[in-house]
Amino acid sequence: MKLLYRLMIAFFTVIITLMTVLRLAFINVTNETMYRNTWNQLKTYSDSLVQDAIRYDTFDHTFKGFENQALLSNAALLSNQHVHFAIFDMTQRQTFASNGFAPQISKNDWKKLKKGKTIYLRLTRPQINNQKAHQSAMTEVIRPYFYHKKMIAVVSIATFVSVVEENMHQLKINLAIAFLIATLAALLISYLLARSITKKIDQLRTATRQVAKGNYHVKVPVNGKDEVDDLARSFNQMTTALRESDQEIRRQEERRRKFLADAAHEMRTPLTTINGLLEGLRYDAIPKEDWNHSIELMQNDTQRLIRLVNDNLDYEKIRTNQISMDRKLFDCSAVLTNLKEQLNKRAAEKEDRIQLDVPAGLLVYADYDRFVQIMFNVIQNAIQFTSNGLIKISARRVERGCKFKISDNGIGMTNDQVKNIWERFYKADQSRSNQYGESGLGLPIVHELVNLHGGKVTVESKPKKGTTFTIFLPDPQHAPHRNSQN
Ligand SMILES: Nc1ncnc2c1ncn2[C@@H]1O[C@H](COP(=O)(O)OP(=O)(O)OP(=O)(O)O)[C@@H](O)[C@H]1O
Ligand SMILES: [Mg+2]
Repeated sequence: MKLLYRLMIAFFTVIITLMTVLRLAFINVTNETMYRNTWNQLKTYSDSLVQDAIRYDTFDHTFKGFENQALLSNAALLSNQHVHFAIFDMTQRQTFASNGFAPQISKNDWKKLKKGKTIYLRLTRPQINNQKAHQSAMTEVIRPYFYHKKMIAVVSIATFVSVVEENMHQLKINLAIAFLIATLAALLISYLLARSITKKIDQLRTATRQVAKGNYHVKVPVNGKDEVDDLARSFNQMTTALRESDQEIRRQEERRRKFLADAAHEMRTPLTTINGLLEGLRYDAIPKEDWNHSIELMQNDTQRLIRLVNDNLDYEKIRTNQISMDRKLFDCSAVLTNLKEQLNKRAAEKEDRIQLDVPAGLLVYADYDRFVQIMFNVIQNAIQFTSNGLIKISARRVERGCKFKISDNGIGMTNDQVKNIWERFYKADQSRSNQYGESGLGLPIVHELVNLHGGKVTVESKPKKGTTFTIFLPDPQHAPHRNSQN
C-alpha cells in the first residue's frame, strides 16, 4: 500500500479514536448531569408540595396529615409537567397517589429513608394508571420528611425518562452532526498531513533518480525541521560532496590528459632530432667532419630528455609527499653568495648583473638541498628572461620567518601569463622554448617545494618592466610539523 494511504489511515484512526472517546465521555457526563438536574428539580417539587400541603397542630406541635385539596391541586399542576408523586405514611402505607401513581419501596430503601437519606432511582417502572408499562420508564426520587425528629411521611416523586431522554436525544443528534463534520475535517487534515510528508519523500525520490543519472546539481528544498527535512539536508550535502568530487575527478582527468599531451609534445622535439641525426649517420648523409657535432647534439637532446623525466619524477614525488626533507636552521647568506658565484657566468652571457642584499648570518629554516633548488630555479629564470639587466636578490627576517625577493628588469609577463606559470609545461612564450631547452617544470617544482616547507611564493610582473618573485619560509615554530616522509 502506498505510504500516503498508510499515513492517512494512521492519522485518521488516531483522530477518530480520540473523537469517539471524547464523544462517549461527553455523552456520559451530560447524561449524568441531566439526571442530576432532574432529581434536583423533583426534590424541589417534593419539598414545595410537602410544605404546601402539610398540616400541624400549632398548639401541641403534632403532625396532622396532608391537606387533600392542596395535594390534588399540586398533583394537577405537576402532572402537566409529567411529574407524578405518591405519599406514604410511617407504616409504609400509600396515603396519596397522583394519577394512580403506585411506586414500590423496597425494605432496604425504607431502612435508608428512616435514616434520613434521600433515594434516587434512575430507572423504575412504577404502576401508573394511563401509561403502558413499557412506556412508563421513570426516574424517581424518594424523600423522607421528619417533624421533631420523627419521620412523618415519605414522598416518592417521579417523571418519565422520556423527558430526560428527549433532551439527550437532541444532544446526540447535534453530536452526530458535529462528529460527521469532524470526520470530514479529520479526513482532510490526515490527507494534508500525510501529503506534506510524502511530498517531501517524492521530491527526494525524484532527486535521487537525477543523481543516479549523474546530475549532481539537484537540490531538494528544505524549509522545515522534521526528520525528512534532516534527510533532505543530508541529501543536499551528499550531492554537494558528489559534485565536488566529480569536478575533482574531471579536473584530475583533464590534468592527466594535458600532462600526457604536453609530455609527448616536449619529448617529440629531442627524439625527432636524435632520430634525424641517427638516420643521417646510418645513410652516410652526414659528412665525417660533422659527426662530432652530431653526436654532441644528440647528447644534448638526450640529456634534455633525462632532465625532463627526472624533473617530472621529482615533481610527482614532491606533490605526493614522497620526498625526504631534512629541515634545519642554516645561514642562507652563504648559500645565496655561493649561488651567485655559480650563476655569474650565465648572467654574464646575457650581460646581466646580479646584486645580492642579504644580511650576514641570516638564518633560514629549510631543507638545504631543496632551498638551493628553489633559489636556483627562480634566479635562473630571472637570468633567462632578462638581457642586459639587473637581477636583485634580497633576504630579510620578517615576522614568523624569512622573506626572499628575486627581481629582474627583464621581459616580464602579462597577468594572464602570470596565472599559468605554476602549471607544468607552461611557457609564456612558446617560441623561446627550443632556444633554451627549457620545459616549464621549474616553477611548478618551486611552488610545491615552498608549500611543503609551509611557506608561500607570489609573483608580480609587468611586461617589458620585469618580474619579482617573493618567497616566504616560516620559522621552525610556525612550520608544519613534518620533517621527512618517505
Ligand atoms: N623572471 C621571469 N621573467 C619572465 N618570465 C618568466 C620569469 N620566470 C618565469 N617566467 C615564465 O614562466 C614560464 C615558466 O617558468 P618555469 O621555470 O616553470 O619553466 P621554464 O623556465 O620555461 O623551464 P625550466 O625551468 O623547466 O627549464 C617560463 O617559460 C617563462 O615564460
Ligand atoms: Mg625555469
